[in-house]
Amino acid sequence: MVFPDYRPRRLRKNEAFRSLIRETHISASQLVYPLFVLPGKNIREEIPSMPGVFRISVDQLAGEAKECLSLGVNSVILFGLPEQKDAMGSGAHAKSGIIQQAIKELKNKAPQLMVITDVCLCEYTDHGHCGCIIGNEVDNDATLEILAKTALSHAQAGADMVAPSDMMDGRVAEIRGILDENNFDSIPIMSYTVKYASAFYGPFRDAADCAPQFGDRRSYQMDPANSREALREATLDVDEGADILMVKPAMAYLDIIARLREEFDLPIAAYHVSGEYAMIKAAAANGWIDEEKAMAETLLSLRRAGADIIVTYFAKDMARLLRR
Ligand code: PBG
Repeated sequence: MVFPDYRPRRLRKNEAFRSLIRETHISASQLVYPLFVLPGKNIREEIPSMPGVFRISVDQLAGEAKECLSLGVNSVILFGLPEQKDAMGSGAHAKSGIIQQAIKELKNKAPQLMVITDVCLCEYTDHGHCGCIIGNEVDNDATLEILAKTALSHAQAGADMVAPSDMMDGRVAEIRGILDENNFDSIPIMSYTVKYASAFYGPFRDAADCAPQFGDRRSYQMDPANSREALREATLDVDEGADILMVKPAMAYLDIIARLREEFDLPIAAYHVSGEYAMIKAAAANGWIDEEKAMAETLLSLRRAGADIIVTYFAKDMARLLRR
């Protein structure tokens, strides 16, 4: 059937028609809100390159949790700024480290909130790399043990799910192993399966104070040019026992989200990262785009590409918009 017999505009006439045939939806329960936690008391400092996002102290977490839950955002992912950094990132698995304290506080004050933890060393190493350095390199196998210890310490503190973001080979199996050995076989792993070496992490590295002090992350994060390699990474993670596969960043990698959606049947998450958030905020602040519409359109595009779950600094704003 072709024009003039078929007229697609018939079904775009008004909002009732449009919503009747709408193919993709977002709900607040699919959004994960990132939180940056730092030592101290009564601290709420706005991150300059991420307007509207704050680094907060542990005592501020209960308020955040309440706000998220009241908006229907049931999940948060935690990032920590430790008191001290060292070469091995030992603050990542310290018993009373910043994240371990944050998990306990949240599970205490808001037990219904799902607490996901980012498992990585870059915020805890003095050199800012995601693993320990042996010679001049980030040593893969030596890092695995530290990551596993970190994931276990999160589970012991009460985390509901762990999310390794370091991009070391074999870390999902290593983490699955240590969790199972310690009776945490019911704690799922959301793997940052396809994490590209991206310029869009810039604002996050300010927020979490984790920029590498030498070199860059291209020897462990993926080359943005590659998509077949993404399928290989995903196959490995599935075989190693991942429960959810994440793609990061999101907007420049919609094709990767769609490919993973097609090839795998595990839930897919997309991380709408700091730089993607900052771009929308900056353009909106200049009056160049409509912030709310650009946010909604962007997050919808991730769902349309095939993401089940979206990690985003816009989680609360989007949830507020969905309420209206
Ligand atoms: C830790 C980590 C990073 C992000 C999430 N986990 C930084 C990085 O890999 O450099 C980035 C998140 C964002 O930009 O919003 N490795």
